[in-house]
Amino acid sequence: MTILHIDSSINGNTSASREVSGSIVNQLKGALWGEEVVYRDLAANPLPHLTLEAFADTRTLDEFMAADTIVIGAPMYNFTVPSQLKAWIDRIVIAGATFRYTENGPEGLAKGKRVIIAIARGGIYSEGSPTAAFEHVETYLRGVFNMIGIEPEFVVAEGVNLSPEHRVAAIENALGETIRLAA
Ligand SMILES: Cc1cc2nc3c(=O)[nH]c(=O)nc-3n(C[C@H](O)[C@H](O)[C@H](O)COP(=O)(O)O)c2cc1C
Repeated sequence: MTILHIDSSINGNTSASREVSGSIVNQLKGALWGEEVVYRDLAANPLPHLTLEAFADTRTLDEFMAADTIVIGAPMYNFTVPSQLKAWIDRIVIAGATFRYTENGPEGLAKGKRVIIAIARGGIYSEGSPTAAFEHVETYLRGVFNMIGIEPEFVVAEGVNLSPEHRVAAIENALGETIRLAA
């Protein structure tokens, strides 16, 4: 079993999404046996913006396809994912590889993988909140992974910038959720 662990926060070791994604990987490693973890830090080693020529390089796609479980740290930057993570997505959502067009619409070809996403948001965007319509991390990533045949799972730490107390509580709550994921 191979776990692909992706981080995309620019906040180094103060990052909430890195703390939660790391905890998810640790929980999975504790629950499983013999799995290999491949780690990609998209902030430390960014992929360039997509170009036509870049389609010829399938290393990122191959690494994704070789993984059974993918754990992603996804902070909210300006209402959506960091451009570092978008550049990674541009290399894995590929017609003919991870989805194909059919007469009935697109069909996902990456079925069977488990994708777990650790989201960190400075404000509150959960359902029913006044700013819920500005949430384009969870909704976007659900759409991306549904497109390629995967129903992603989410662990969310939100409101981390509201106050230091709120930050601690939101991260602790998310870390508690990670225990449930490995059960
Ligand atoms: C460049 C930048 C843009 C941000 N944009 C938003 C935003 O649109 N909405 C929000 O609620 N928080 C925003 N934040 C706050 C982050 O979502 C919050 O700090 C979160 O913890 C980031 O995850 P990280 O700690 O893993 O980097 C932004 C932070 C940065 C650095």
